[in-house]
Amino acid sequence: MIAEYPADLLAEVKQKTADRQLAGFTPGQGMLHPDLMLVGEAPGRHEEKVNIPFSGASGQELIKFVSSIGYSRETVYITSVVRQRPYSVKRVKDKKTGEVIEKTPNRTPTKKEVLAFGPLFDWELAMVQPRIIVPLGNTALQRLLGSRANIGKLHGQLIERPIQKVTADHRGYQFTAEKHLLVPMYHPAAVLYARRLEPVIREDWLALGRIVKTIKD
Ligand code: URA
Repeated sequence: MIAEYPADLLAEVKQKTADRQLAGFTPGQGMLHPDLMLVGEAPGRHEEKVNIPFSGASGQELIKFVSSIGYSRETVYITSVVRQRPYSVKRVKDKKTGEVIEKTPNRTPTKKEVLAFGPLFDWELAMVQPRIIVPLGNTALQRLLGSRANIGKLHGQLIERPIQKVTADHRGYQFTAEKHLLVPMYHPAAVLYARRLEPVIREDWLALGRIVKTIKD
């Protein structure tokens, strides 16, 4: 299932991000009430083109890990805290022609951008109602557990805590009264930048497989 976000929330995002360098719009997708809801940072260039979350290089890594514990793209829900591709504009000289060309590489979303998409993400989480939320990397983790949370410390562990939701005026966050189950993971792109993390991430996913089994039994 592909998320169909409420029009008023989409209009609010549009208004709050009008002056920002953000491209495309990739909706979250997958199964409702799944065991796992995987939450990334923001779509990249490939996702912007095809509108499928985690369908580029880091997505291929992610799906390998998902399959290693018996799930697939169809049996989990996949989204990210920001739904558009954040980019910066760089002017670089083409090595062959010497011509100055404009490039628009991906960048990490700012805190303000993550907050602008906050109501959309809260709506999505309330609709999906996963058993376990799996934040992938620090951007998603800190959106959920606050800016002091660190993926290097929390990866692969089961955490039961209140999570951040946007406040009624949509200007900040507050913690929920109820607790949620989370298992934070390194972002799959980490494998592409630091191969040494691959065995750690593989182990974390196997641990997640065991955790879900225990919770369901
Ligand atoms: N990184 C993310 O966080 N999400 C995507 O969809 C792709 C890359």
